Amino acid sequence: MEGPYPTEEEVERCEFQNWYPSFRKCSLKSEMILLSEEFIEYLEDDKHGLFLPDPPNDKKINYSSKFDIDSSDQDEEYIEFWEKVEEEEKKKKKEKEKENENEEEEEFDRKHYCFPQIEEKIEKAIEKFGSVFPKMNWSAPKDALWMNSTGDLKCILPSDIYSVLKGSDLIVFDLNHAFDLCKEKSKNRPEKFYLILRKFYPLIISQEFRCFCKNDSLFAISQRDNSTYFTYLEKKKEHFFELIKKFWNEKIKGKFGSKNYIFDIYITKNDKIFLIDFNIYSRATEPLLFDWDELNEIDLKNNQENKIQFRLTPKDKPIKPNLSMISRLPYDLQEFGNKVSVSEMVDLIKKGKFDVKDEDQDKNEKEKEKENKNEKEKKNEKEKENEKEKENEKEKEKEKEKEKENKKENKNEKENENESENEKENENEIEKEKENESENEKVKK
Ligand SMILES: Nc1ncnc2c1ncn2[C@@H]1O[C@H](COP(=O)(O)OP(=O)(O)OP(=O)(O)O)[C@@H](O)[C@H]1O
Ligand SMILES: [Mg+2]
Repeated sequence: MEGPYPTEEEVERCEFQNWYPSFRKCSLKSEMILLSEEFIEYLEDDKHGLFLPDPPNDKKINYSSKFDIDSSDQDEEYIEFWEKVEEEEKKKKKEKEKENENEEEEEFDRKHYCFPQIEEKIEKAIEKFGSVFPKMNWSAPKDALWMNSTGDLKCILPSDIYSVLKGSDLIVFDLNHAFDLCKEKSKNRPEKFYLILRKFYPLIISQEFRCFCKNDSLFAISQRDNSTYFTYLEKKKEHFFELIKKFWNEKIKGKFGSKNYIFDIYITKNDKIFLIDFNIYSRATEPLLFDWDELNEIDLKNNQENKIQFRLTPKDKPIKPNLSMISRLPYDLQEFGNKVSVSEMVDLIKKGKFDVKDEDQDKNEKEKEKENKNEKEKKNEKEKENEKEKENEKEKEKEKEKEKENKKENKNEKENENESENEKENENEIEKEKENESENEKVKK
């Protein structure tokens, strides 16, 4: 693999715990939890597949408690019901025990882990943020989205976090290989491992950009989602370009410490920029709409701002999606993942498709919501009026038809009357004829 080769310091600067304290104000809210060696051992323990740590002692659930109901004041029917349930449970348990004999042996063989202190901190962070996006020193477990029922990295339970970390090769790689990128390498591991829990925001992927810097100069920007063309981005390109340059000048330039680095940002609907991450300037970081040879060739000797290349995913060029794009699900599906609690769901619905919000944005969105409500109400009223008009017209038509039918009936009646009159007349005539005939006969006689 050809360069660029980062130095160990450059790799270290991109560890979350090293950059976040200085850029906290322009980044997403996050908590950092120092991990024990035993936790790292748990993540590396790959002999027994994917298993969770044991719950801390105070949380062990006594499953038999549901059968401990005082039966003295219960109807016989209920007692019978619970006895049956209990019997069935026992049967099922025995069957499972037989099926999983081998697996169970392994289960007893493996080391059991339990992290009460870490779990307490995780729970506090979840309580604080509502839901969290987990990552470690460098990487997020983007390759383990399938482990989470929501289809993304939105975690609401400690077990969600353990599952995605344990199911991720990216995380395991970082544990021992982050410094493999360096030409001169003196270590394999960082000094400390952290679990980073960030407040989860359902970010709009089209608003994410990756920025490349050499010699502390911004020289390339790429749309983060390099697989999707967004028409509106073409129109906003110039505007976003100015925003990104301003953000880099004010918040990043000269402040990160490294000369070569890559940073990811998110632009809110209100044009506020949030720093998502710093990445190592090396081939380990996806170049998205550039390629590494191309980035290496760009000469920065006389780089001026107007030479910054800003690329959006082209309309007609299908580009192979990167890993994080492949493992994403549409947000409307994510929102209804079965681990989302009712209160969160309500929260989601209230907020609509929310974003990283600042206060102004919240206000604007509330106003928009009001406008939308008014418009909807107006629409509903119009629809009701239209329906009424339609009903009136229908009734009028019905009346017309009735009139027509009445007329028809009258006509028929008259015709019938006429007919019957005619018939009568005919009959009379026939009778008259008959009478005449008989008279004639009489005369003849
Ligand atoms: N707090 C958050 N809430 C919701 N989604 C997030 C959050 N932070 C990051 N993401 C999403 O996850 C993606 C990956 O996050 P991040 O860049 O931190 O991971 P990474 O492992 O460093 O990725 P890469 O290898 O591409 O640098 C982001 O592009 C963003 O879409
Ligand atoms: Mg990153």
